[in-house]
Amino acid sequence: MLAGKRILLVISGGIAAYKSLDLIRRLRERGADVRCVLTRAAREFVTPLSVGTLSRNRVHDDLFDLTAEHEIGHIRLARDCDIVVVAPATANILASMAQGFAGDLATTVLLATDRPVLAAPAMNHVMWASPATVANIETLRTRGVSFVGPETGELAEGEIGAGRMSEPLAIVAAIEKRLSADAPLAGRRAIVTSGPTYEPIDPVRFIANRSSGKQGHAIAAALAALGAQTTLVAGPTRLADPPGCRVVHVETAQQMLAASLGALPADVAVCAAAVADWRPANPGNAKLKKTEGAGPPAIALAENPDILATLARHAQRPRLVVGFAAETENLLAYAAAKRRRKGCDWIVANDVGEGTGTFGGDANRVHVIDAAGTESWDAMAKDEVARRLAARIALALAGAA
Ligand code: C5P
Repeated sequence: MLAGKRILLVISGGIAAYKSLDLIRRLRERGADVRCVLTRAAREFVTPLSVGTLSRNRVHDDLFDLTAEHEIGHIRLARDCDIVVVAPATANILASMAQGFAGDLATTVLLATDRPVLAAPAMNHVMWASPATVANIETLRTRGVSFVGPETGELAEGEIGAGRMSEPLAIVAAIEKRLSADAPLAGRRAIVTSGPTYEPIDPVRFIANRSSGKQGHAIAAALAALGAQTTLVAGPTRLADPPGCRVVHVETAQQMLAASLGALPADVAVCAAAVADWRPANPGNAKLKKTEGAGPPAIALAENPDILATLARHAQRPRLVVGFAAETENLLAYAAAKRRRKGCDWIVANDVGEGTGTFGGDANRVHVIDAAGTESWDAMAKDEVARRLAARIALALAGAA
């Protein structure tokens, strides 16, 4: 759910800032991109070096010149994210937010953002209960800011009361909840096939192909990032499991079919795997031996199941079934014929001819063919193709709902 989400984390100056380091780690583990803004006071508790190392992004604070050309401007910083999280949120920053002060980068960003804002307050229990803070919280709530915590317990100064910042995992859950409220594929189920298949000849040899799985894995990640409960059925690849997905690793086409059917029912299926059309009919249990003078063995082939066509004609057919067509010639004509033959709703056609660099490369130029016609997209990164395809799927499912 957090995979691919961009989170702007504002760290203000409280002792609880040490927990924000763990929060960054937890968010990154879930595939989120985390950018941090430190207030001057926060720098007394955590260093820009530790925050930058954990987030793997440049840390923004008042010491950086946001007007310099190489820097991202504060307005962009405020809006180029899916959510702004203030953790810890001190009484001081909450008061600034309620009043609309913009005296430093953190408060400027909070005033300039048009994204959802979630705050994790952390302060002494008397400050938390003070009429000023109570009024500020009320003001911010009515403006749409949401809150997680604070918890009741022992505070840094040894007193007991409400004011302790929520634990990082509770903050992660609150972020997921806030984001899922407007995730376009929340409550939808998706199946994605990706990568090649390996079809054994004997225990040591197999027939395979050059698919890297990059496009299919990126699609699974993009669907999950839009809130879909996504099952990725992955053939053997060198890629890490994309965050936010349930991944079923398979080798053969028959295993891929079984895993795909096992993930039904679903709202959408995207078959991006390069499934072997044929498999050795009788893979031996023992290694084929080279016998002097006998010549090469004949390998009888059997046809593999067509996973895309099976899903498209299944009693539990997903509402939207999307196939891929990799062709080296007559791309659009072959792809349109394939859409009809396989019974799917869309075909994403890509040219994998020599010199296109599509196989294994990071870029792709695709045409999306549906009942209405052909939409040709510019060449772009496979991640971007995935994001656009996921957005198109969200739109189609919203229309069909
Ligand atoms: O027939 P062709 O392999 O060109 O079709 C490509 C499309 O069909 C892709 O979406 C691919 O994932 C899917 N396919 C499949 N099972 C097969 C063969 C292809 O799902 N056995």
